[in-house]
Amino acid sequence: MNATPEVIFDVEPGGRLDGELRVPGDKSISHRSVMLGAIAEGETRVDGFLQGADALATLHAFREMGVRVDGPHDGCLRIQGAGLHGLAAPAGALDLGNSGTSMRLLCGLLAGQRFDTVLAGDASLSRRPMRRVTEPLAEMGAVIETTPAGTAPLRVRGGRPLHGIDYDMPVASAQVKSCLLLAGLYADGVTRVTEPATTRDHTERMLDGFGCEVRREGATASVAGGQRLRGHAIDVPADISSAAFFLVGASIVPGSEIVLRHVGVNPTRTGVIDILQRMGADIAVGQVKDSGGEPVADIRVRAAQLHGIDIPAELVPLAIDEFPALFVAAAAARGRTVLTGAGELRVKESDRIAVMAEGLGRLGIAAEPTPDGMVIEGGRFNGGEVMAHGDHRIAMAFAMAGMVAGGPVRIRDCANVDTSFPGFQGLAAAHGLRISMEHG
Ligand code: S3P
Repeated sequence: MNATPEVIFDVEPGGRLDGELRVPGDKSISHRSVMLGAIAEGETRVDGFLQGADALATLHAFREMGVRVDGPHDGCLRIQGAGLHGLAAPAGALDLGNSGTSMRLLCGLLAGQRFDTVLAGDASLSRRPMRRVTEPLAEMGAVIETTPAGTAPLRVRGGRPLHGIDYDMPVASAQVKSCLLLAGLYADGVTRVTEPATTRDHTERMLDGFGCEVRREGATASVAGGQRLRGHAIDVPADISSAAFFLVGASIVPGSEIVLRHVGVNPTRTGVIDILQRMGADIAVGQVKDSGGEPVADIRVRAAQLHGIDIPAELVPLAIDEFPALFVAAAAARGRTVLTGAGELRVKESDRIAVMAEGLGRLGIAAEPTPDGMVIEGGRFNGGEVMAHGDHRIAMAFAMAGMVAGGPVRIRDCANVDTSFPGFQGLAAAHGLRISMEHG
């Protein structure tokens, strides 16, 4: 994926965001719809599927394992489920590109198969920690080889009987929880996973939707092995993590007012709204309705003067992907914002603490990285050049900063925006962002 030509965003200051828009489908839910649809019985129809590189990598992996899928056509997929034991050995390694969710969840699902698989990824994914999934899977009886550094490529050995475990997760990670619940479907007995803080619960909700019983007691989710999943219809809401760039952009650019349609507002994902509201943002979440087990809503945002805050620790996992955008909000706010307890940001698609601090500094903002967070003094952005380091969310966060900068902002290494938000530049431009794209 890094072999693609460099994409550069150029943002001119000025303008404002306005109008009504629907951002692409939720990435987490799109991945899970393919994974569970593939091992279910019967057809699963998915609408609103995210046609971004990450979710497409998951789709491609299941096609390689013999699953028949029609689409995506305009976000619609029809998956012919192969059943719990119907996947076939792929011809070669599965290339998961930039996608940590694909790799970590597949690791669990594939540990219970009869065949071996190799999971590989791009340079960024090949640096990310995988022992957080391979170690508990080994406790369940799985055999998975990593590099000596505990990274991909991963060789998942098939034909190993799995047994349920009780696992206390040391990190608050929905990917680890989901990986173990998926492995649990193939294990003898019950697999119980306890999280140290609330993380997104799309796997649990979607398993419910497929007719599989998942128990949730306090911080523990558990699943009994051998349950059959029944194919059904899934409507993927718009991704709140993609909406986040517009929540921040419309908040910090004077005169802005936008409505974001059909956004997933699962309470395990809405930390970004809580944090922005605590900073003084004018955000109204319209009537919440249920869409196949996931709450969705229209969100109205009007520009407002933001002020710095100490971000409450319990909101960190609920906004874990939104910190690049939130750092931009903090930089545009009055006063100081302090984030702690977010060391996980250092092992995302990039080291988001280091990369954001570097970019904010280049644009004239005082941003002090700490081991597990950042201290940002609100100020005024200068124009300048920043690096996205191949991280989609860094690129889109700085694009929003460009609107309120003192001069043009040039953002390098933006090709991976396509992993989660294909069409970002066109959609943002249609709603007021003065952005152009160049191939370097
Ligand atoms: C995800 C969980 C989060 C998030 C990632 C998607 C998921 O990772 O950062 O973008 O779909 O389960 P962690 O669970 O590792 O924090």
